[in-house]
Amino acid sequence: MGTGLIESGENVTAKLKEDEKKMTKFLFAFLVLAGAGVAQAAEPIIIKFSHVVANDTPKGKAAEKFRQLAEKYSGGRVKVELYPNSQLYKDREEMEALQRGAVQMLAPSVSKFGPLGVREFELFDLPYLIPDADTVDRVTDGDIGKSLFAKLESKGLKGLAYWDNGFKQFSANRPLHKPQDFRGLKMRIQSSKVLEAMMRELGALPQVMAFSEVYSALQQKVVDGTENPLSNLYTQKMHEVQSHLTISNHGCLVYAVITNSKFWTGLPADIRAQLEKAMIEATAYERAIAKEENDGALAAVRASGKTEIYVLSDAERKVWKEALLPVQAKFEKVVGKENLDAIHRIAAEVEARNAKKK
Ligand code: SIN
Repeated sequence: MGTGLIESGENVTAKLKEDEKKMTKFLFAFLVLAGAGVAQAAEPIIIKFSHVVANDTPKGKAAEKFRQLAEKYSGGRVKVELYPNSQLYKDREEMEALQRGAVQMLAPSVSKFGPLGVREFELFDLPYLIPDADTVDRVTDGDIGKSLFAKLESKGLKGLAYWDNGFKQFSANRPLHKPQDFRGLKMRIQSSKVLEAMMRELGALPQVMAFSEVYSALQQKVVDGTENPLSNLYTQKMHEVQSHLTISNHGCLVYAVITNSKFWTGLPADIRAQLEKAMIEATAYERAIAKEENDGALAAVRASGKTEIYVLSDAERKVWKEALLPVQAKFEKVVGKENLDAIHRIAAEVEARNAKKK
C-alpha cells in the first residue's frame, strides 16, 4: 500500500514535470506567434504608387480612391503610398523603377509602352480611331485589352486595370483651325511612334519629352505646342503659357494600371483578392469622373481668360480626320489589322446603341 503511495507520488511528480514542459512549449509557441502577429501588424505591405500627373486629375483621384479602398479591405495590412507629379520618377524612369521593384504600382499612359518594346498599345494613339469613351472601355475590357496586357508579362509587368482620361486637345501659340496650321510647329509628344507620325502628317516637328518637363518647355518656347486632355493641361497650368487651344478630340488618353509581376504573385492570396476588389472599384470611379473632370477643366481654362478656345465644327473635324487617315494605314501592321477591324465594329455597335436610346 505504502509503496503504492510512494510510487504514485513519484508518478504525480513526473506528470507535473511533463505538464510543466508542455506548458513551457505552449507558452513559447504562443509568444512566437504573438510576436509574429505584432511584427505583421507593425509592418504592413507597402505599395509605392508613382505617377506623373497632379492629385487633382482623374488618375490622381482614382489613385487616392484605390489607396483608401486597399487599406480598408486589407484591414490595414496594406499601406499605399502615393507619389504624384513625377515626385519620384519621370515617365521612362518610373517604368524601370517598377521593373526593378523600387515601386510597386504605376498608371502610365499606354502611349509610353513603346520604348519597352510593346508597340501594339500605340493602337490607342491613332487619331480619330476611337470616337467615344464607351468604345474605349469596351475595347480595353474586351479581348484587345486582355491580349495587350498579356504582352506585358515578358517584361515582368502585370496589368491590373485600364483607366481612361477622355480625349486630347491641341494647344499652341497660334490658332489651329486647319491641318496646315501645324506646319513647322515644334509639338511635344509622348514616346509613341504613332503620335510622331501624326505630327509629321500635320507638318509639325514632334519632340518626345517627359510630362514633367512640358510646362517649362512651353514657357521657355523650347516647344510651341502640345496635346493633352484638359484635366492635364489645366492642372499643369499649360493654358497659362499657350495662347490657343483647339477642342479637336482627336485621340484618347488611356492608362494601364500596372504592377511588378513578382511582387504581385508573391502577395498572400487573400491580400491579392482584396487589392483586386479595391482596383475594380477605383476603376469604376475613375471612369465615372473622367468626363466631368475634363469638362470642369475646360470651364476653368475658359474662366481664366488666358487662352483662346476654338471648337472644331463637324465639317472641320472631318477635314482633320481625312488628313490623318494615312497614319492608320501606316500602322496597320504594327497594331494589327484584326484589332483595327474589331475597334471599327465596336464603335459602330456603340453608335447604333446610342442612336436607339435617343
Ligand atoms: C498622363 O496623363 O499620365 C501624362 C500624359 C502625357 O505624358 O502627356
